[in-house]
Amino acid sequence: MSGGDKLDFEIRPNPAPVAAAERAALLVDPGFGRVFTDHMVTIRYAEEKGWYDARVEARAPIPMDPAAAVLHYAQEIFEGLKAYHAVGGGVTMFRPEANAARFVSSAARMAMPALPEQVFLDSLRHLIEIDRDWIPTAEGGSLYLRPFMFASEVFLGVRPAKEYLYVVIASPVGAYFARGVQPLTVWVSPTYTRAAPGGTGAAKCGGNYASSLIAKAEAAAHGCDDVVFLDAVERRTVDEMSGMNVFFVLDDGSLVTPPLTGTILPGITRESVRALAERAGRTVTERAMSVDEWRDGAASGRVREAFACGTAAVITPIGLVRTPDGEFTVGDGGSGPVTMELRQQLIDIQRGAAEDPFGWVRRIL
Ligand code: COI
Repeated sequence: MSGGDKLDFEIRPNPAPVAAAERAALLVDPGFGRVFTDHMVTIRYAEEKGWYDARVEARAPIPMDPAAAVLHYAQEIFEGLKAYHAVGGGVTMFRPEANAARFVSSAARMAMPALPEQVFLDSLRHLIEIDRDWIPTAEGGSLYLRPFMFASEVFLGVRPAKEYLYVVIASPVGAYFARGVQPLTVWVSPTYTRAAPGGTGAAKCGGNYASSLIAKAEAAAHGCDDVVFLDAVERRTVDEMSGMNVFFVLDDGSLVTPPLTGTILPGITRESVRALAERAGRTVTERAMSVDEWRDGAASGRVREAFACGTAAVITPIGLVRTPDGEFTVGDGGSGPVTMELRQQLIDIQRGAAEDPFGWVRRIL
């Protein structure tokens, strides 16, 4: 079947999978994005055929013509989501429909074809099913799924490509940051911005992350774990980090997070944090937060906590903020109680250790 909302996947098991003992050793401390499973999904798209040739096969290099459009104009998008061993048994995913929908909107922004949401979901299920032995069982571990799509047409003209390849790979992961969930030290970049109004900030495209790398390097040069980008127009208010949204916790227990004005990613973890906080009776306001307000609020006690959130980072506290004008601590510089409470609630729901009042968790196996 081709081009429809459902595709038949041809399953070709890897004839030489990693041996069980080696896999077990790799799963002990996988870190983030270093270890990969035995299989991948690939689906092709051609303008005249639609989506076709859906496969699950051995993970392998992708042959690419040097004139493939993605290599020149970066027409590429991706997603990130996780599969878990649920506490009560079975394998689950967290809000995969939200990723499927965001993949469609990222594609629209990058002038790419929409992958039907059901095909996206089926592709994840097939990969999880065949690579289920790679899902870490250790607490804090999960199987990170990385669906992505790029322009594969061999063509150097600057226009939307007519051929694409959609791929899903999987990586067993632990904590995203090397220091685990220790409070982050962040650098407010005076030099670089992430996205301007009308740009690609709300799309999950590789280019946004490529442009963040030099800012992350600047952050590292100042002894920081990550970068906080300011708005591109006034360079005054917080947008987001290199790959995470930001929340602030105020002294009245309410939360503030930058609004979705098109320059930041509409994070699924961000949206889940908002829902969890509101359910607990907290007010969540989407509004601009300037660095001046953050600094003054940290000094006066008005801003008690701050944290980064995303699929990979989950919820990670921010303890220290460095700017070219000096640094300030948030709260006592440690992991704030509201941050850690939200983190635990989210993880418990994701892992099936707590009730799922929003119906977010999908049983896959
Ligand atoms: C994720 O959180 O899944 C992302 O894609 C962000 C990236 C920095 C790992």
